[in-house]
Amino acid sequence: MADRDLSAGEIRRRFIEFFASRGHEHVSSSPLVPLNDPTLLFVNAGMNQFKDVFTGRETRPYSRAVTVQKCLRAGGKHNDLENVGFTPRHQTMFEMLGNFSFGDYFKPDAIAWAWEFLTQVVGLPKERLVVTVFDGTGERAPADGEAYELWTSHIDPARIYRCSAKENFWQMSDVGPCGPCSEIHIYNGEVAPATADQPRTGPEFEENNYVELWNLVFMQYEKVADGELKALPKPSIDTGSGLERVAAAVAGYDSNYGTALLAPMVERARALAGSGMPASAGESSLRVIADHARATAFLIADGVFPDRAGRSYVLRRIMRRAIRHGTEIGLKEPFFHEVCREVVQSFGEVYPELTARAATIDEVVRGEEDSFRRTLDRGLRRLRGAIDSFDRKGSGGFPPGVAAELYDTYGFPLDLTGVIVEEHGLTLDEAAAEAALKERQGSSGGRGVDLGQASAVADVYFGVHQQVGDTEFTGYDAISGEAKVVALLVDGARIDAATPGTEVEVVLDRSPMYAESGGQVGDAGTIAVEGGLSIAVTDTFKPVGSMHVHRGRVTTGSIREGQTVTVAVDGQRRAAIARNHSATHLLHLALREVLGEHVAQKGSLVTPDRLRFDFSHARAVTPDQRRALETRVNAMVLANAETVTKLATLAQAEADGAMMLFGEKYADEVRVVRVGQDSVELCGGVHVARAGDIGLLAIVSEGSVAAGVRRIEAVTGMGAVQHMQMLPKSQRMRPVGCTHPMLGRSARASRSCGASSRIAIAN
Ligand code: ALA
Repeated sequence: MADRDLSAGEIRRRFIEFFASRGHEHVSSSPLVPLNDPTLLFVNAGMNQFKDVFTGRETRPYSRAVTVQKCLRAGGKHNDLENVGFTPRHQTMFEMLGNFSFGDYFKPDAIAWAWEFLTQVVGLPKERLVVTVFDGTGERAPADGEAYELWTSHIDPARIYRCSAKENFWQMSDVGPCGPCSEIHIYNGEVAPATADQPRTGPEFEENNYVELWNLVFMQYEKVADGELKALPKPSIDTGSGLERVAAAVAGYDSNYGTALLAPMVERARALAGSGMPASAGESSLRVIADHARATAFLIADGVFPDRAGRSYVLRRIMRRAIRHGTEIGLKEPFFHEVCREVVQSFGEVYPELTARAATIDEVVRGEEDSFRRTLDRGLRRLRGAIDSFDRKGSGGFPPGVAAELYDTYGFPLDLTGVIVEEHGLTLDEAAAEAALKERQGSSGGRGVDLGQASAVADVYFGVHQQVGDTEFTGYDAISGEAKVVALLVDGARIDAATPGTEVEVVLDRSPMYAESGGQVGDAGTIAVEGGLSIAVTDTFKPVGSMHVHRGRVTTGSIREGQTVTVAVDGQRRAAIARNHSATHLLHLALREVLGEHVAQKGSLVTPDRLRFDFSHARAVTPDQRRALETRVNAMVLANAETVTKLATLAQAEADGAMMLFGEKYADEVRVVRVGQDSVELCGGVHVARAGDIGLLAIVSEGSVAAGVRRIEAVTGMGAVQHMQMLPKSQRMRPVGCTHPMLGRSARASRSCGASSRIAIAN
């Protein structure tokens, strides 16, 4: 029998223990933002972090794993956002329990263990469970007779349903590992589910009476760009079970929102609304707020901030949807940060990143609600005006142009406008509104809304990567070398050869050119064949895995696949990048020393011209602190210690005191970079040989980028010299006894020292 008092925390613990005692490695949840995966907006399943293990591209020291993975399904292939609040079982953010086999056990164990866990470990009533298997329709894969047979030894065949690919074939995104699956559902209807004499229609058709508890995926294929299924090297297992649903089933609740995983947030919102909550306001608003507060707190803890594009825009939509529902239940003042605090309280022990980032979560949420509320009333008035003046006799829906204006001027996410106009019996064509917005922003130079997950171009890179694999990076030790052309692309399509004038993308088997990552921009340079080909490369990036794509224009000769070429990095540009990258590490260290240990990196950009560093800090940096930062960094530069890099295990790096980014997932082997005497960071970027090569660092600006996040921009080398020369005399530093003209003496002194104002600027 189910122990109705079994807490969600205890179910989580028993799940890990059950599989760990069956030889599974307990692997921690990865952050919600997938690392280096252009096909995915957010982590949407436990298997994401093992994607390359299933396909055989990556190996791990274990062949079985168990995880409790933070997932977010909002936008993209698995999107539940619109259902949230209106059903008892949908959430955007949830915890997925999962066990995995990488070419180890297969269907018999996966099925037997799932059944044992549900019916014995957490004691769900067998007579309320039903299962589904793949019937062989809707995908180029055969029906799963084997799973059917295996289930018959656990459950009455009348309660095994065969369903099409729509229900019983699982894939993470349009490409990648996939396979037929088998789901376990619980029946929540009035009478016992099907028996041989009383068949029911089943979960596929009676959605409201059943809740899917567990999905067992039999990973057998990899879907490639054209939809073809390739057999995986070894059949594997990927399972996923929503903790909230299992906890609700065990406790006998008909809604996930009754469990301790969501109820505290629902109750907090209810308490905040208090007696001001209109009688007409439904539970759905409370659910929306509760769910969205979890998504918000977890996303901010993983480094996503509300903004106008991509992941940040999805977060903004989630937050603004919740805030608007707050107004529905009568909350006139900022409240959402209070509900997010409840999330930190409820989950901080299991997910320490929430506690570590509690102050940032608070500030960011507060800031977003303040700014949204400032325009909410005006925006709603504009919207009501547009709805009232809408000619209902005419054909067509609500004008897309007005929706675009509401987004641009008042920050109303398009789907929010859609929901509101629907409440007034109108419809909004969101695609048309998005197009109107793009046009509007295109003409005003704004950033477009990029909600797409796997763009067509990303698919092409993905396909090329599957064929040619990673590029060997040789650029730590050399800035030129020979390489073979393994693929050529023009406008997102594979080609065999390219001639002068063509803007081409070249993939090489090895390359000294650094591909943009970790905030460091990609290298520029040339790809050439003596006496023939020459390509001026302007950018290098890695869209999938470690495959370097070199983008540039063919200036002379032609290039073809299979050719051997000489690759040369633009050395001056690279040296300037290295100076700025090493200086970034020194600045990071100095910030923690001068401002405090709470300073955490939020973002970084390293270009040849300057460096930009975003970090968590609540207040503006004072002029004294700014001077202290410059002094500390430049003292380290003058000490001129040698840069030391080494490959180490994560544990060794930790022992060396390497600074690691919270919530970041690192490989087992990491590159440890020591710049100056004291800065140790994990970094894949390029650096100066000695700290003195940086020359000089000057901070050029400091400001706020989001609530609780500051940004410093700085220059190094000749860029710093040039910066100082442009400062008004009164602001130039004048160290005691210094007579150097650049530091503020007279023009005559300048001439006598032979300094020139026409110094060539190298970076
Ligand atoms: N990856 C499978 C799912 O998310 C288990 O349903």
